[in-house]
Amino acid sequence: MKVFEHVSLKPHNTFGLDVKARFFAEITSLEAYIRLCESGKYAQVPHLFVGGGSNILLTKDVDALVLKMDIMGIEVTQETEEHIWVRAGAGVIWHDFVQYAVQHQWAGIENLALIPGTVGAAPMQNIGAYGVEIKDTFDYLDALNLETGVLERFDAAACQFGYRESFFKHAGKGLYLIASVCFKLAKKAELHTAYGAIQDVLNEQGIQNPSIQDVSNAVIQIRQSKLPDPKEIGNSGSFFKNPTVSATEAERLKASFPNIPSYPVMGSTEVKFPAGWFIEQAGWKGFRDGDAGVHAKQALVLVNYGNATGLQLLALSEKIKKSVESKFGVLLETEVNIL
Ligand code: EPU
Repeated sequence: MKVFEHVSLKPHNTFGLDVKARFFAEITSLEAYIRLCESGKYAQVPHLFVGGGSNILLTKDVDALVLKMDIMGIEVTQETEEHIWVRAGAGVIWHDFVQYAVQHQWAGIENLALIPGTVGAAPMQNIGAYGVEIKDTFDYLDALNLETGVLERFDAAACQFGYRESFFKHAGKGLYLIASVCFKLAKKAELHTAYGAIQDVLNEQGIQNPSIQDVSNAVIQIRQSKLPDPKEIGNSGSFFKNPTVSATEAERLKASFPNIPSYPVMGSTEVKFPAGWFIEQAGWKGFRDGDAGVHAKQALVLVNYGNATGLQLLALSEKIKKSVESKFGVLLETEVNIL
């Protein structure tokens, strides 16, 4: 494994922030990484794993060995009349994996088209969109225990999935390297078209019995119309999580702001509100200060128009948090990892 020094991470984070890694290498096989660890050469610095770099805000140079996950490959491991189990290497681009499944007419992840990032990063925060989360089709993942060097298998229960949450963001943080993920996909499609604008797009196109491809295309169309393409404008998708509040707090908000949209939370009396609504109502949508801004079509997305720094984006996010808290009494939680 070739290790480089003082490498710009600009191509490795979707905000396009130009900070440097003290050391940088690509992991193309688990064996190569294990050999590197056994050599003891880079044991004195922390190891930081990145996938597509689509959920990080880099505020300073990284004094670590940054390891870009590049373990590739997609394979079918099992098949019945109704289901197919497909395992992908952690470095596979998530959207490519979705398209692979869609092309083979395997259903279950088509609503998750165009989410930036890699397969290995997907379970970290149980990525989700348009009424579907990866926990719905997740079967297991294999991860290297960084302390023991043993590959361990985690089923869905062990991953402790929640809304943008998993074991790997909490008790398991920094302790494992996810190497591959296996999904149980359906051969007979059960499509989820109820959420958001999917049905509207299908209606507009006069599609009554949508295929898996139709749903995936509708999601792509919606995302492209609202969310900035990181290749054009640096961003990290939703910067904050949608806040969940108690039933009493929800009543207070609905009484004060009768037009506020809300969603029930499955299996709970809590209510979820769209963070983008609070941010827009607080006047931030389309805001720009230098090259740091709030996207004009989706207030939940912070953008780097070119030369913003991580600290400028962080400062903007803090201002947004404060203003939403003082206007609505709601505390926004960051979805993106600040480094
Ligand atoms: N809204 C506004 N103003 C805005 C944005 C949103 O008022 O600027 C309100 C509207 O009422 C809208 C509602 O928020 O109807 C929901 O907006 P949208 O459908 O765009 O979804 P979201 O709740 O803002 C979440 C995910 C997205 C995911 C979409 C679609 C989170 C933190 N974000 O956003 O995920 O694509 O739903 O399912 O849960 C991501 O995690 O990076 C991401 C993009």
